[in-house]
Amino acid sequence: MFSLFSRKNKCLGVDIGTTGVKIVELKKENNVPVLSNYALSYDSGSLIQTSGLEILDGQSSEIIRNVLKRGKFSTKRAVVAIPSFLALISFVELPEMPRAELDQAVRFEANKYIPTPLDEVSLGWDIIGSYQEKPIEGSQAIRQNNKIQIMVVTVPKSSIESITKVIEKNGLVSSALEVENFATTRCLIGNDKGTFMIVNIGAKATNFTIVSDGIIRVTRSIDVGGVEISRAIASGLRIDLQRADKFKRSNQINLLDVKDRTSSLVAPVAGMILDEIKRLRELYHKKNPLRKIEKLIFTGGTSKMNSLLEYFSRQMSLECQLGNSLARVGVEKKYENVVKEVAPELTVAIGLALRGLQEK
Ligand SMILES: Nc1ncnc2c1ncn2[C@@H]1O[C@H](COP(=O)(O)OP(=O)(O)OP(=O)(O)O)[C@@H](O)[C@H]1O
Ligand SMILES: [Mg+2]
Repeated sequence: MFSLFSRKNKCLGVDIGTTGVKIVELKKENNVPVLSNYALSYDSGSLIQTSGLEILDGQSSEIIRNVLKRGKFSTKRAVVAIPSFLALISFVELPEMPRAELDQAVRFEANKYIPTPLDEVSLGWDIIGSYQEKPIEGSQAIRQNNKIQIMVVTVPKSSIESITKVIEKNGLVSSALEVENFATTRCLIGNDKGTFMIVNIGAKATNFTIVSDGIIRVTRSIDVGGVEISRAIASGLRIDLQRADKFKRSNQINLLDVKDRTSSLVAPVAGMILDEIKRLRELYHKKNPLRKIEKLIFTGGTSKMNSLLEYFSRQMSLECQLGNSLARVGVEKKYENVVKEVAPELTVAIGLALRGLQEK
């Protein structure tokens, strides 16, 4: 039957983080995405075994069920996150060739550096640029060498199966799965021109994404996040993790004050993130001297920590800002005040749901 309201006018973004599940519902209103509902689970121990790199099926499923119950969402269509550390995003360059031949060439190239056999991974690729190779001086170049730059994304099939299983078990219909860096980029940068590094500091991991003119150029994930900060405070102050977590969320931490006891406990953890930012920036600038990183954009729950942005901005002498995950969506009036508080945690989920609304 003809329906005025297409199913595609609504979509959920489902982000299964290491310590929690976040679900956002977006709907299209006058062609503009509007956040019409959201729900988060509380920090819940471990949902993903980072060492085994596997989604813990039973626990995740139970938590998703609870979040869905609380959220009372009005669609089952969902775009679902693939955690960064499950994916391998790499970049290859190939000589220009007809598109029909590219798939085989990419697979051949990928086979050289992907540690797992190709039939055990799901592989996707996209052309992200092209350039003309400079002819070597003195050589008699008889034809120009055009190179194409390709991004290759691989995810173990077993991970995709376990995510899909958890989603289907809860009655959701997954319209797509997407590696979280892409969702973060869509949510925070969209098509904005310029070169930026997104630093998503979550609970157990920090994900770095360098984006230039809307295209992802570098990704990296390290096992450092808010849990590590809570642990450092707990052992340094000899208090339990719960109190340490409260302390962390208060404004008693001032990372800029090196004489402060707590700041000296947190600084080594923040320092690991800082070192990685510096390393990635240097590598990127070496390869792309004309595309200087203009700004660091922070997101994820830990980015809300008192004085964290000022700390990075001072250490890097570079503009640092908190990404605004609500910049590309409207928000229903009843959520206007409350959603701001958790906006940094919802970045991935919002980016995923935005993709769902863009689907034809
Ligand atoms: N105000 C705050 N100050 C400091 N840390 C906070 C604050 N609010 C939340 N956090 C921390 O943010 C983390 C959760 O962030 P987020 O939801 O982005 O992580 P996640 O997506 O579950 O984890 P990951 O991305 O590592 O899988 C927790 O460690 C939590 O303690
Ligand atoms: Mg996360």
